[in-house]
Amino acid sequence: MKVRLTTALVLAGVAVAVSGCGSGRDTLPIGGAKPGLGAGLIEGYGCGACHTIGGISGADGEIGPSLKGFAGHRLIAGRIANTPGNLVAWIRDPQLIDPGTVMPDLGVGAAQARDIAAYLYRH
Ligand code: HEC
Repeated sequence: MKVRLTTALVLAGVAVAVSGCGSGRDTLPIGGAKPGLGAGLIEGYGCGACHTIGGISGADGEIGPSLKGFAGHRLIAGRIANTPGNLVAWIRDPQLIDPGTVMPDLGVGAAQARDIAAYLYRH
């Protein structure tokens, strides 16, 4: 009985690991976010001066990494997992996550950061 239970737990762990990687990352949901507002916010904050971003004319900066297809990226700034919560945290306060990074704290609010993150996950 004990052995069987252990096997079941190990199998369950493998199933979680398999379903956790690969496909489906291009639709990471962010509750309550309005991705339709993201483009205007990205333009307003001037993210495109440093980043290349899909769907935004003039957003062709090369100081930071390209954010095209960001849902498919594994890491943020090479440091933390690319999850919706981490992306929102990064946009709000990159210096907190990577002290000294060239990306400035632009004073993005919580709701705005969620709208921007939702936009990035779709472009
Ligand atoms: C002054 C230039 C600059 C501006 C403006 C800027 N960023 Fe960045 N950004 C960077 C740099 C440089 C990095 C790389 C940071 C690192 O790896 O430590 C970065 C990293 C990122 C990353 C992680 C990219 C990756 O592949 O890991 C995201 C997402 C991001 N920025 C989003 C934004 C958003 C959204 C805005 C606007 C609100 C913005 N950035 C404004 C320079 C900038």
